[in-house]
Amino acid sequence: MFTSRINIIRAYLNKQKLDAVLISSVFNITYLTGFSNFSKEEREAYLLIGKDFQYIITDARYSEAVKSEVPHLILFERGYKQSTEDLLKKHKKEIKNLGIEEDDLTVAEHKLLKKHFKTIKHLDIKTHRAIKTLEEIDKIKKAAKLGDKAFEYILEKIKPGVSEKEIAFELESFVKKYGADLSFPSIVAFGKNSAVPHHQTGNTKLTGKGEFVLLDFGVKYKNYCSDMTRTVFLGKPSEKQQKIYQAVLAAQQKAIDFINKKLKAGKEIKAGEADKAARDYIVSKGYPGIPHSLGHGIGLEVHEHPFLSSKSKEVLKEGMVFSIEPGIYIPDFGPPRPSLARLREARFAGEAGGVRIEDLFVLEKDKLSNITHSPKQIISI
Ligand code: GLY
Ligand code: MN
Repeated sequence: MFTSRINIIRAYLNKQKLDAVLISSVFNITYLTGFSNFSKEEREAYLLIGKDFQYIITDARYSEAVKSEVPHLILFERGYKQSTEDLLKKHKKEIKNLGIEEDDLTVAEHKLLKKHFKTIKHLDIKTHRAIKTLEEIDKIKKAAKLGDKAFEYILEKIKPGVSEKEIAFELESFVKKYGADLSFPSIVAFGKNSAVPHHQTGNTKLTGKGEFVLLDFGVKYKNYCSDMTRTVFLGKPSEKQQKIYQAVLAAQQKAIDFINKKLKAGKEIKAGEADKAARDYIVSKGYPGIPHSLGHGIGLEVHEHPFLSSKSKEVLKEGMVFSIEPGIYIPDFGPPRPSLARLREARFAGEAGGVRIEDLFVLEKDKLSNITHSPKQIISI
């Protein structure tokens, strides 16, 4: 599998008239090797793939693991005896045009490469990951299934007095007990904190009745991520809260219906138009527009192609896995300011909080299939 992925990249190199590519993104390295232990913060490895060579460049801390887990690549061990630059110099004659990942490389790395190669051009590897194989889809489904279980479990822990961090901790320990990891630090937002789409989980405790409880979390299973959001209520939600909830749910359905309709008609499904279907609905109900994109592809990374945003030019295709996650966020407004948006938003003052509902979907040949199965009716604890 990894050899065929490398061959696809090699064919792509050829098409782009490049002699080699230096791959630096950890997730692309995992995609092409299966090895996932390199740091995401530090540069610990590269792949150098050319017409007649394919190297994995790393240091002695990883050599043994790489030798056994990545036998399809030649290990170049960088260290005190030889550097990455030495390897590049060795192939300098064959590499006139080098591909790089410009969205990953640092300026310093780019400067160094410019010393050796005449043409350096961006090569997009990430988009190759957008369409998943059945095996990849299966891993994402398993991650999502554990996410559903974790949601069921966590509902029992939501009680007055509990803090956001405690809930985040419970989620993490549940997922780890099942041998998996979180795919990102969980977002747990109580009350008005839920009005911040990416609230930083803190020490706020649940106190009152009818509070928003927004839970956004994901599982990583065999390198593949899931992502889901549910908003529940501690106590009976007010009428306003229920209306907001139903509007978010209906907006998600608008996007689903849009995609299914295009699919049935055999038409191109533009990601930007799916975003618009949900966004327009929310605005038509008099709520502030979604302050983030409608969704994102998911796989080795939590956020990857395709991106379902208003600016996206991407087309949704069979085998893509992505989230659909509309939200309505009503912040604490403070003293009213005389802008139109403020006046419109002020109708919701006193109800600071937010609702987001997020499911993962796989686009199949004839339907959009849900991967997240947690309930979506209003849950009042
Ligand atoms: N669930 C986190 C995000 O999609 O940004
Ligand atoms: Mn998401």
